[in-house]
Order: sequence, then C-alpha cells, then structure tokens
Amino acid sequence: MNEAVHLDELLSCRLDNGRRNLEPCTIVIFGASGDLTSRKLIPALYHLFIEGSLPTPFRIIGFARREKTDDSWRAELRDALGKFSRSKTVDDAKWQEFAAQITYCRGDLTNPKAFEQLGLDIRESNNESLRTNLLFYLSISPTQFAEVVENLHTSGLLQRPDQGGANHRVIVEKPFGTDLRSAQLLNAELMKFCHEAQIFRIDHYLGKETVQNILTFRFSNSIFEQLWNRHTVEQVQITVSENLGVGSRGGYYEESGALRDMVQNHLLQVLSLVAMEPPVSLQAESIRDEKVKLLRSIRPIAQNEVATNVVRGQYTAGEVMGEQRPAYRHEKKVAPDSTVETYVAMRLFIDNWRWSTVPFYLRTGKNLPLSASEVRVQFRSTPNVLYTAQCNQRLDSNAITLRLQPDEGISLRFNGKVPGTSMQLRPVRMHFSYDSEFGAYTPEAYERLLLEAIAGDATLFIRRDEVETAWRIVDPIGTAWDRKPLNGKEFYPAGTWGPVAADELLAQLGHAWRHPQPIH
Ligand code: BG6
Repeated sequence: MNEAVHLDELLSCRLDNGRRNLEPCTIVIFGASGDLTSRKLIPALYHLFIEGSLPTPFRIIGFARREKTDDSWRAELRDALGKFSRSKTVDDAKWQEFAAQITYCRGDLTNPKAFEQLGLDIRESNNESLRTNLLFYLSISPTQFAEVVENLHTSGLLQRPDQGGANHRVIVEKPFGTDLRSAQLLNAELMKFCHEAQIFRIDHYLGKETVQNILTFRFSNSIFEQLWNRHTVEQVQITVSENLGVGSRGGYYEESGALRDMVQNHLLQVLSLVAMEPPVSLQAESIRDEKVKLLRSIRPIAQNEVATNVVRGQYTAGEVMGEQRPAYRHEKKVAPDSTVETYVAMRLFIDNWRWSTVPFYLRTGKNLPLSASEVRVQFRSTPNVLYTAQCNQRLDSNAITLRLQPDEGISLRFNGKVPGTSMQLRPVRMHFSYDSEFGAYTPEAYERLLLEAIAGDATLFIRRDEVETAWRIVDPIGTAWDRKPLNGKEFYPAGTWGPVAADELLAQLGHAWRHPQPIH
C-alpha cells in the first residue's frame, strides 16, 4: 500500500483541474429588460466574475427594445443585484470592474436592422475571441425564439459549425414548446439555422448541486447502487412542493399549469437521473443517451387511463405559514372559472428490466405547506418473521431520501432498538447534510449552467430527443384535462398537501405519501 495514503484519509478526487480554460467570450442577452436577467442572469454572472470563473476578457451585451443607455442599464442591474444577489453585500469596486464589461444594444427583435447594429457592437472589440466566441441567451417569449435565431443567422452572427460558427451557441429558456407538436416545430425552426450541438436548452433543475449529485451518489458508491432495483425498492416518491401561490405569474400560469410548468421538465429530469442506467462514460452524450432511454421506457399513459393514474388539483383559499392566501381563481390574471391545475400527482411505471412493477410517484404543487424538493426511495419490508411478524404494520421499512432543497442532504432511515430494558423498535436516521459537511456554499443553478454553456459542455442541458420524449409522456394528460371542469375532489385548500384524490391514488396500491419534513 502507498505509505502516503493513510487508511482514514479523505481521498478526494478531481475530475477537472478546478478551473476551466475558457476562451474570451461575448454573451448577448435577449430580453435584457426582463425579470430573469436582473434576478438571475446578471447576479449569476457577477458571482462567476468575483470568483474568477469567467474568461478574461469577457463581454455582456444586453439587447432589448426599451430606450436605455449603457449607464442606465448598469444602474438598474446594480440595484437588482443588491436585492437578488446570493452574497448579501455587493463589493462596489468589483461591481465597477464587472459593469465596465456590460453594454446595452437597443433594438427590436423582429427588425433585421437591429441585428446589424448588434453585429457592429460585437465586432468593435479588438479581441478576436470576443468577436467569434458568441453565446446568445434567449430570455424572451418562446414565440420569438425562431425569429431571433433566424435574424441572428441572416446577420451572420450565428453560423453552423461547418460554416465558421464552431463557437456560436444559443441558450434557450423554458418553456420549450407547450406540447409535442409545438416543441417539434420549434426544434425544426432552430435546426434550420444551427446544429443541435449549438443549442443549450435550459432546465434549471439540472444546475442544482444536489441534482448533479444524484449521479455521483449512484455511480461512485457501490453500496447503494446494488439496492437500486425492483428486488429491493418498493416505490419511489418524488416531491417538488412550493409554499407560494402563483403570485404575479397568473397570466403565464393560465397557459401552462403545473403539468407543463413543472412535470414535463423538472420532475421528469429528476426521475430520469434517479432511475437511468449507468452511462458508458461521463461524456454529455452518454449521459443524455441514458436519460432519453429511461424516458422512453416510461409506460405511456393513454388519455383514457389518465383518470386512474394522474390527479390534478387547484388551490382554494387557505392559510400557509400563518398567511392568508387567495384561491387560485382569485389570483390576478386568472379566469374566475379556470380549470388550470396548480397541483399534479401521478403514478408512473418504468417498463425495463431494473424497474418493472415499481411505482414511481411524482407530485408537485403550489401553496403546499412547505417548500421542499426530495426523492424518497422506499425499500421493501423484511420477510414476515421475527420483528416484522410481531410488529405487524408498526415496523417501518427502510428509506433513502435525497433532499434536493432546502436543507440539502441525504438521509437513510432504518430501525433500531430504543435503549432500555423494554423491547421497543423505532426508525432512526443517518444524515448527511451539505451545510455541516461542506459549509453553506450552494451556488445558484444559473451560475453553473452559464459556466457550462460558456465552456460548450452540454451535459446539463436538454437534448432535442429528450425534450420531445418528455412531451410525449405528458401530452395525453394535458389533452385529457383540457378545459374539463374540475370535480370537488380536485380542489385543495392552500396550506394542505394537495387534493384527497392524490391520497387515493397511492392507496390503490396500499401506499401513502411521505411528506417532506422541515429539517432544523
Ligand atoms: C420554474 C417554474 O421553472 O421553477 C416556477 O416556472 C417554479 O413555477 C420554479 O416556481 C421552481 O424552481 P425552484 O428552483 O425554486 O425549485
């Protein structure tokens, strides 16, 4: 044995050198006046800058219709950074240095002339890389994606790799389509002007540290992966609950609902990472191949099977954390007779060798008692002898919970003997917490995603076939619900864990929801 390796040493292993060698890059943000830009994108870029992770030099150009100067836009962004930055205080000297790289280009997305101006702005730089290494962030309405990409192409700013655009990339925000057909159309439009390798479709859940850790947890440990199959797992529950209502986003939500807003993307992404087979390598395409394969193995739910496998819900007035919340139908920009779902619960089966017969329960909702995202893998109970025979239903079976947010961590629940002279058993918990192990460093998802896009690594982005396969899964559900009136069992008061029908869905197979717990 290598003498230098002490048995108990924490061997850490680097897959990179800790610092990417990034080429200088110009980032153009379409939708510069939008909420996402000031709340997420600029704070993320600022943090990357102060950590020294952005390439040197770099440029950020904001593109939008409103009349602004470089300085007035910078002032707006500085203001927003004060409110939304994850580090409480903003270092003014650093901000000045960062802001000096930011400029504003006023223009109309539909006007090819405006793109000529953008081209001039980009080319004015005397750094060759800044003129050719271009990242276009489409933080705009999905109805404008195709036109912007076409205008970029016509103005020569976005070329295919074989035509000189090897370093031209486009980041596309969600929602990517509203159903399979619209997603296919959008893909076809984008493909007219760029190659799949140049398109980075965002699902910000993939930028979360804990979501990335799912693959590390599964494939860098030998003890858990052996249990990860139908022989030992009884059911899996994936919960993404939110304790806020739709707030000011009623207009958007009326068009999307929880199915399109959360299930088609975030929940199915988490599910695919939890259930996929080991990829042949850690390369982007190997990982994405396995995710698509998994999504394809999900047993389709036909329209006439929706009622028995999927539950929708809509919140009525109620109280969340001591605060009164209005009914969804009374939110701003929501129709008073809206049938849009603010809650979805569903049971999926994965028809492959590993998971056949294991139910995967997915649920998400607004105005639930707690904001928490977690994956709970519930194991089968022990044979009906010894303790189980004596305890009847009172002996809990083991579970591993991957807590994605907040209070990020992983816990294993198993039974133990309560100390004392009597014979009493109860579940105990072994817990790994990110905070106590690594300190409170949890970078924003957008930081990681922007950095990966700058580096041209697509692992954390959604591939064309992936987005389409996900729509194929949810489309029949959306169609079955479309404008169908809600029945009494489909409402839930704000502050509760969803409609009664969701409990009945699990009861069909003798299961019950395990609600996330606040962890202090
Ligand atoms: C977004 C949805 O994609 O994700 C929102 O549009 C939702 O409705 C949000 O609130 C949840 O993200 P997070 O990171 O807060 O869990």
